[in-house]
This record gives sequence, C-alpha cells and structure tokens, in this order.
Amino acid sequence: SISRWMSRTWLRIAHRGASGRAPEHTRRAFELALAAGVDMIELDVQLSRDDELVVMHDLRLERTTTGQGLVREHDLSDLRRFDAGSWFSQELAGERVLSLSELIVLAAVEARLNVEIKSAPADWDVLARRLVLCLRAEGQLESTVISCFEPRALQAVRAQAAEAQLGLLWENDDCMEAWRWTDELRAVSIHPFWKLATHEFTRTAHMHRLQTLVWTVNDVRTMRKLLRRQVDGIISDFPERFCYVDRCGTDPTA
Ligand code: G3P
Ligand code: MG
Repeated sequence: SISRWMSRTWLRIAHRGASGRAPEHTRRAFELALAAGVDMIELDVQLSRDDELVVMHDLRLERTTTGQGLVREHDLSDLRRFDAGSWFSQELAGERVLSLSELIVLAAVEARLNVEIKSAPADWDVLARRLVLCLRAEGQLESTVISCFEPRALQAVRAQAAEAQLGLLWENDDCMEAWRWTDELRAVSIHPFWKLATHEFTRTAHMHRLQTLVWTVNDVRTMRKLLRRQVDGIISDFPERFCYVDRCGTDPTA
C-alpha cells in the first residue's frame, strides 16, 4: 500500500486489526485492516510459557479462544492449536492465535505497528528483551511504536534500546504525571482515552513534542471532533470508517 509512504495529516490506526468485523488479532482482522488502507495497526502482546511473543489482549484464553487458563501457562505451539475465531462467528472458526513474528510478516510491509505491552510486571524485563530482539531482527524497531499503560514497562524497553519509539497509554485525569513520564522516557507519543484529548491536552502534548494517538473511536462524528482538537492519530475497531471522515454527508454512524 502506498499509504505508508505518503505523508498524511493524521494516522489511521486499526485496533487489534479490524476487530469490529473480524475476531480481534487474527489474520482475517489484520487483512481487513490492511484492505482499509490503515497507516498503522495496534496490537497487544504478552509472553507464552516458552517466552515467545503472543498477540493477544486478555491474559486468559477463555474470551477469545477455545483454550483455558493463562496465556503465560502455555507454550506457543499449544496456543496455536486453539481456535481464535469461532467465539466471534462460526464462519471464522479456524482462525489462530498469532505470534508477533507472524504478524510482522503478514502486515509490516504495508503498515507500521503499534505494539502494546500487556504482560504482568514480573515479565516486563524478559518481554522487553524479547520484543526488542524480535523487532530488531525484523528491521521494524524504529518504525514501530511500543506502548503501555505502565511507564515502568516502557522503562524496561528503553533500557534495551535507545532507538525504541515509545508511546505512553493514559486514562487518568492527572495529566501532569503523564508529561513527567513521557519526558523521562523520551517518548514519541501519548495515547489517551479519547475523552481526555481536549484542545488543551493536544496543545500540551505538542509542546512536549509528542503525537497524540486516541483510542478507541468508532463513531465518525467523534473522529471529526477529535481531529478538530488536533489529535495526530485515531485508533478504531472499524478502520473502514476512516474514509468517511474527510467526506461530508456519508457518515455511516450518523
Ligand atoms: O492501545 C490502545 C488500546 O488498545 C488500549 O486499551 O484494553 O484495548 O488494549 P486495550
Ligand atoms: Mg491494546
């Protein structure tokens, strides 16, 4: 896709792939996101028992797979046997849990990645090492934004790689704390819950040389409102709606 190379005014980002129309974090969800022409794909990662990087949101398997228990209690080869599509729809039964390397092969030529760390604190150091190793090996470390709600997990990544591009996820009202952390981490972006992204917020972010990437916005009118507040990117479960943002009168969610 040419979108990766064109300079656009704002980043179109798919949340867990096109997770509104396909089971989150599956091949189908990522293919639909690429078909929608996104600039970036957000995905969650955590470690398997054998310290592989697994693309999954919940720490437990039950909601999105046919497996049971913690992701961390299973080797990647076991996780691959579970069905990650049938919870969403029977037609998509057979979708599988993906590793980060598989996802990179599938998506990283056409879109940048935003890898969000979901692991528990005890795993942050190992995860940071594995993540930096994987992204470096695939030549994706400098194009990928690594994000987390936990600044100390990002510190573990920073300790591994001076060139890592870090984004701090934020959902609290106390934004002063956020700016302290982004300065200390030398972050490139702040990722607030969309309601926190006021004009004042984006102005302060820009003063700190941070991009503001908001989540999770599925309504086209809200996307337009946030762009008027100068956000730099929008993370959505329905990336196919992004094409309506710059058009008038064709808002499918109106
Ligand atoms: O990265 C944005 C968003 O994904 C954060 O929340 O729970 O959907 O991972 P969550
Ligand atoms: Mg996420």
